[in-house]
Amino acid sequence: MTAEVPSFIQARDEADPIRMFRQRFSLPPGIVYLDGNSLGALPTATAPRLDELVRQEWGVGLIRSWNSHDWIGASRRVGDKIATLVGARAGEVVVADSTSVNIFKLLMAAIAARPGRKIILSETDNFPTDLYVAQGIAALLPQQTVRAVDPGKVLEAIDKDVAVILLTHVHYKTGQKYDMARITKRAHECGALIIWDLSHSTGAVDVDLGAVDADMAVGCGYKYLNGGPGAPAFVYVAKRLQGELKSPITGWFGHAAPFEFAGNFQPATDINRFLSGTPPVLALAGLEIGVALLAEAPRKLLFQKSQELCSLFIERIDKTCQGYGLEVVTPRDPQERGSHVSLRHPEGYPIIRALIARGVIGDFRAPDILRFGIAPLYLSFADIWRAADALRDVLVTRQWDTAEFKARAPVT
Ligand SMILES: Cc1ncc(COP(=O)(O)O)c(C=O)c1O
Repeated sequence: MTAEVPSFIQARDEADPIRMFRQRFSLPPGIVYLDGNSLGALPTATAPRLDELVRQEWGVGLIRSWNSHDWIGASRRVGDKIATLVGARAGEVVVADSTSVNIFKLLMAAIAARPGRKIILSETDNFPTDLYVAQGIAALLPQQTVRAVDPGKVLEAIDKDVAVILLTHVHYKTGQKYDMARITKRAHECGALIIWDLSHSTGAVDVDLGAVDADMAVGCGYKYLNGGPGAPAFVYVAKRLQGELKSPITGWFGHAAPFEFAGNFQPATDINRFLSGTPPVLALAGLEIGVALLAEAPRKLLFQKSQELCSLFIERIDKTCQGYGLEVVTPRDPQERGSHVSLRHPEGYPIIRALIARGVIGDFRAPDILRFGIAPLYLSFADIWRAADALRDVLVTRQWDTAEFKARAPVT
């Protein structure tokens, strides 16, 4: 990788009050990792913890570890830690299933709680799984319709026909952030419920579900939470709604007393009703490490650093990459964006491949978006400087213009 990092950038890193967290991650040397919004980095504590869990708790403790090592409490314990990152209270978040499955559970619960209302409202460019699950529900329940509107037209599309609104807080492609307080307020004025997908927010962006009186939320465990590939997701349901909303997946872990093995389903009275089956203990242990690490960092500093890193990246692109057909898609105003920076270029795919070959790992979202995730816990100002320099170099030298970089890999 090129790049002399100037002393004023080094000074910013030295003054960064959360810089020491980087040492708690096992990042390969020579890599600038800007894809933590797709798959978070590996905390150094994860491998020893999983080793201990497998060899001791499973190998030696066997089934006794459900009690002796509180495997049974992990979904709630990790949920309570995630709650501290999103402004929720203890008992409002539980770890379960995947984000897609959790969206299904919450949409179905919301529709049942708003009888007579026909609309699931979302936006046309929402993350595909959110739209697909909503479409699947419309196919299951013929009285329901999906109303998908332009991202900027959501507020005016909320009316008394809407049962539930499903939005991704930080847009997965553009990085644009919705005004959660304003949209939630409007939803409530119209009597609708709202589900926020926090996949691109949790752990990197200031979210205060309690302050905006949010109803429901979901989010991924493997992005900024650093839970590892395929880590389980989380569900948030406000305490005031927990008695009313019912999961459509009435599995035994959602029962009020799973180990009584009663013949009839009786939902738990609390957030546990959104559990379905046996929790993935190994994956939960990985997620717990990632979440605990984030929870150690002061929230304000974490979110402020994310904004500063994003601003530096955009500034450097504006200054050094002009004239090569690159467009900054993410809002320049930190209040209007999340924690990734997206750039548009017609040759976005080979450009990102060329960058990855140089050790700067971002990703590509079709048709033309280069995406750079900014994880404040392990990235430095020097990383951002180097990444922008490498991008400039790839553009100036047209390093991307080869058959090798143009050939598509299965995962982008
Ligand atoms: C906004 C959003 N929702 C959901 C998902 C993925 O959901 P799942 O974990 O069920 O694959 C992603 C993955 O990138 C996402 O960006």
